[in-house]
Amino acid sequence: MNAKALNPFKSIPSTPESVLSTDEINSFLSKDIAFNRIILYSSLESTNDIAKAMIQSGTSQGTIILADSQTKGRGRYNRSFFSPPGHGIYMSIVLRLDQSYFANHLSLVTLTTAVNICESIEISTKKDPQIKWVNDIFLDGKKVSGILTEKVDDRENNPWIIIGIGINFSTPVHAFPIEIRDTAGSIFSNDPPTITRNQLIAEIINRMFLPCSLEPQIILSEYKKRLMLKGEETLITGFGNPFKGKIVDVDEGGCLVVEKADGQQISLSTGEISSSMCLS
Ligand code: BTN
Repeated sequence: MNAKALNPFKSIPSTPESVLSTDEINSFLSKDIAFNRIILYSSLESTNDIAKAMIQSGTSQGTIILADSQTKGRGRYNRSFFSPPGHGIYMSIVLRLDQSYFANHLSLVTLTTAVNICESIEISTKKDPQIKWVNDIFLDGKKVSGILTEKVDDRENNPWIIIGIGINFSTPVHAFPIEIRDTAGSIFSNDPPTITRNQLIAEIINRMFLPCSLEPQIILSEYKKRLMLKGEETLITGFGNPFKGKIVDVDEGGCLVVEKADGQQISLSTGEISSSMCLS
């Protein structure tokens, strides 16, 4: 779907307190984190795409690309991610895989990011987000955030990962394209923001770079606490024919353990689940 055609950008007023500022973000960052720098754009096609270009032209470990809006924001399965200005967080964290904490925990990158986003929202807003395996964050039944993790090699064949984070921060419900209005929400869609986007961004960056927020056993247990649809019949897509299965657990490697109709348990490393309301 063409992101540009979907975006009624002009109809959403932004407010002065919603201005993104690297100075304000930096003022909230922990002194103990080792990242490179934040590069802020007013608008670009996709922070993940800029990150890829930077990796090819030579960038440093720990660079963060942030944009106020995207015209071609992307999600998993090449879906578009609605990214209007003034109301969202669109950022990509660029890590040289072999020099990063995730070198030995590649399968947990998206799970770790999901937990860190949830904890950042909880601590700064007192709201109660949940996670739909593997990469979606929900609040009050609506998707408010998605994660797109991509692995690319640079020109010398060194492996890098790009962790793309999209958050609907204060987008009003009526501003979402009609196609996603029933399923998409934002953190502050009904109430005025009590924090700035800059504060939430800093919370997330701190967690993504502090070793204590990356411990696999803790991440898995925090992920499971927030896992949606556990024990429920779901529809699993992304592997040829869709099939039904009951969500049992998430295993050590971050795979979703599902029980099929015949009782057999399988572990999924990719794919997508939908609630039983989608079952025919
Ligand atoms: C999903 O919902 O499947 C993932 C959405 C990820 C969106 C973010 S916004 C920042 C980064 N740049 C992109 O083009 N996508 C990710």
